[in-house]
Amino acid sequence: MTDVPKFGLLFGMALLDVKIIPDPILRVTTEKVEVFDQKLHTFLDDMYETMIDAIGIGLAAPQVGSTQRIAIMDLTIEGVPYPAITSLSGKDASAHVYNGRLELINPVLVSKGAIVPSDEGCLSIPDYRDSIKRPGTVVITAQDRRGDEYKVEAEDLAAFCIQHEMDHLDGVLFVDHLSRLKMQLFRRWCAKNGFEWQPRIGS
Ligand code: CO
Repeated sequence: MTDVPKFGLLFGMALLDVKIIPDPILRVTTEKVEVFDQKLHTFLDDMYETMIDAIGIGLAAPQVGSTQRIAIMDLTIEGVPYPAITSLSGKDASAHVYNGRLELINPVLVSKGAIVPSDEGCLSIPDYRDSIKRPGTVVITAQDRRGDEYKVEAEDLAAFCIQHEMDHLDGVLFVDHLSRLKMQLFRRWCAKNGFEWQPRIGS
């Protein structure tokens, strides 16, 4: 992470620079987090500050220039169904939720449900929203900031958000899921709005 803190220094936190397409870091496959130390906690707090500042409900590490396998999600947004959280570490389930946010470290997909429409946007593609199709339910496991493992069963917006953020950890953007016709319209939107679109290599 090479970002220079811009604000929030008085509070020991920093807003990180949000990467926009076609920044190549948005296409990397992230690396597993092995060390759960204060440096990680500071990074998670900075990610959270950045997400709130940008008015997002989820954020993945590559979006702020990091190649760590980390995503966060705000659970306090009204209208987002609260996912069912089960501890796999013998803890109380609430121990895995940090200040109303879900910190998904090294998340792994366990199962997914039927495909449904999902209306999405992304902080790395400013001001673009579109409808794609994804599983409407998802079960994943992840580690929290202490490294304790937990399971999440999510539906609807929470499930879409988890999948959207997990995609980021493998270099996938939500627009990669667009139908062929919608992709043509999206490319036109990019050209009109001064964004350079680069498809994922191998897709
Ligand atoms: Co995104």
